[in-house]
Amino acid sequence: MWSKHLAGRDMGLLVTGGAFDPGRPSLLCVHGSGGRGAEFSPLLEALGAAANGAALDLPGHGATPGPGRRSVDDYAAWVMDFLAAGPVRPVLLGHSLGGAIALSVALARPELLSGLVLWGTGARLRVLPAILEGLAQDFGPTVELLVDLAYAPATPPAIKDLGRQAMAATPPPVLWGDYYSCHHFDVMERLGQIALPCLVVCGERDRLTPPKYSQFLASRLPGAQLALVPRAGHMLHQEEPLAAAQVLRGFLGRLA
Ligand code: COA
Repeated sequence: MWSKHLAGRDMGLLVTGGAFDPGRPSLLCVHGSGGRGAEFSPLLEALGAAANGAALDLPGHGATPGPGRRSVDDYAAWVMDFLAAGPVRPVLLGHSLGGAIALSVALARPELLSGLVLWGTGARLRVLPAILEGLAQDFGPTVELLVDLAYAPATPPAIKDLGRQAMAATPPPVLWGDYYSCHHFDVMERLGQIALPCLVVCGERDRLTPPKYSQFLASRLPGAQLALVPRAGHMLHQEEPLAAAQVLRGFLGRLA
């Protein structure tokens, strides 16, 4: 079923959960700045057969050719084209920049979705000057700063390495464009327009999109549920995939 959405597009799409079963929920994951769909593997594996899982690579990331985009709206338009091309009306899970994209899709084309999972993100995503200016002027050390901020301090080095590799493999103008897109994103006043079932999840130790942002989302989105994942930082799906999957499984089960 997911393959119908490709419609001849050259793009990276990870599909999990075995044969597509229309009787269970479908979940499409959208990564954040400098990420790729494969980073959701531990989470989707932990979900197992609870969902028809998929995770895409945004333009300019992973196996999807560029160019990257310079606004959340332009990324959201690309995701909406993908969704509209096929029959699956998934729960859209968006992490960080991906969460901003998911909120924008939910505001523009809610009929393409059956639910929303906002995963380490916010309704406004201002970016530290050290990141935006650093990516333009001093790419390598700024990637190190981002890796340091993205993971809780106790995260094993092998997990941090995965994030470092994905970011370092992202062309610098694409990574800068991702953070530029975040910096100009703000739907704080529009959340009340979203009527989709919604789950908001954040790592308790997230320093890039702190729990305050998720608490705001949950307080403004009608009927949203909030879950904080203990010990996890911004990359909760890599840091605590089992605990994160448990929260997600509960939400998907209530939707079914
Ligand atoms: N949800 C709820 N509250 C939010 C929010 C969100 N999405 N975004 C900002 N706010 C709050 C802030 O906490 C702040 O509240 P306060 O006045 O009570 O302290 C207020 O709104 C203004 O914040 P902001 O617009 O972010 O401007 P700022 O000048 O205070 O801070 C940064 C700018 C970059 C320092 C800050 O946004 C930050 O630390 N960001 C996290 C680090 C980062 O770069 N993350 C990358 C995200 S992709």
